[in-house]
Amino acid sequence: MAAEKESDWSGFFSGCVPPPNADSSARAMAEFAERHSAQGRRVVLVTSGGTKVPLESRTVRFLDNFSSGWRGAGSAEYFLELGYAVVFLHRHRSLSPFSRRYSGLNLLDALKAVPVAETTRWRVEADQAALPGIVPVLQRYTAVREAGLLLPVEFSTLSDYLYLLRAAAQALSPSGPKAMFYLAAAVSDFFIPASEMPEHKIQSGASPLQLTMQMVPKMLAPLVKDWAPHAFVTSFKLETDSSQLVARARKALATYRHQVVVANTLETRRVYVVIVTEDSQIDLALSENEVKQQQEIEEKIVQHLSECHTNFIEKSKSPE
Ligand code: PMT
Repeated sequence: MAAEKESDWSGFFSGCVPPPNADSSARAMAEFAERHSAQGRRVVLVTSGGTKVPLESRTVRFLDNFSSGWRGAGSAEYFLELGYAVVFLHRHRSLSPFSRRYSGLNLLDALKAVPVAETTRWRVEADQAALPGIVPVLQRYTAVREAGLLLPVEFSTLSDYLYLLRAAAQALSPSGPKAMFYLAAAVSDFFIPASEMPEHKIQSGASPLQLTMQMVPKMLAPLVKDWAPHAFVTSFKLETDSSQLVARARKALATYRHQVVVANTLETRRVYVVIVTEDSQIDLALSENEVKQQQEIEEKIVQHLSECHTNFIEKSKSPE
């Protein structure tokens, strides 16, 4: 696997329409990273959720994937607990930090409208039993919001994601080694270039639909080499065949020469990951007891990576 040439990814961008929030998000991310870096805080970009791959330019149909955004949203919370400022680049309507715990709930079942005595007004009461743990969650969320420590940025399609990833990298790059990239989004490897996409809805006919998709250039290559060359970069590797997992993680590290790959399989991703670096391989797992106590693997991943990040920052201060 050869690292991508500049022409692969610059050609990809020249064939895409920028997302509507491209300029405003680029400005917001740059301002956010600059403010927090000036205050001495580490800044992490957490990517989260799946990417939508349109089949028509006036999109009726698209390809998608399984990712819920649980990993990214949970990890963002643990980064915040450790004092990071977090840019949360996430798929529209995927899970968000803090509210993720209540995503399966019909909010209206937990709320009641109560008349305010001797007025025509109403107030809304929440049934705390229907919202487990809501008070500490709300307190943490409010503290994070008031301190301006979390910047959510939304994407929807694959090309939106890649545009915003590049803008995020450019925004965080001035933070040097204190910037971390935590690339947990499930990004499509295949797409149909705009020039080859039908404009209108594909008609159903007598013959089966045949699609030819192009490879998406791996954005890890320019990210590590050009967009944020001094940052600490963690990518994820997802496989369904566990026998290939670590070898593929190692291959990614050797190709892109970034710092860490978090390797996981589809079925066990909530309880087990392998953290792979150039010279180490560490298993992180939840015990049965920890699962019962509702502990989360994301807490262990983020704790471990923040220690690796500290070492990386220290090492970058002392020239070899
Ligand atoms: O959201 P959840 O349901 O909680 O699931 C979490 C998760 C399984 C999605 C997450 O833990 C995970 O593994 N995310 C990465 C999935 C993935 O895209 O793996 P991959 O092996 O296809 O890609 C490896 C890396 O290459 C990724 O970090 C990706 O950011 C990067 N990539 C992918 C495509 C592309 N064009 N350029 C890239 O740089």
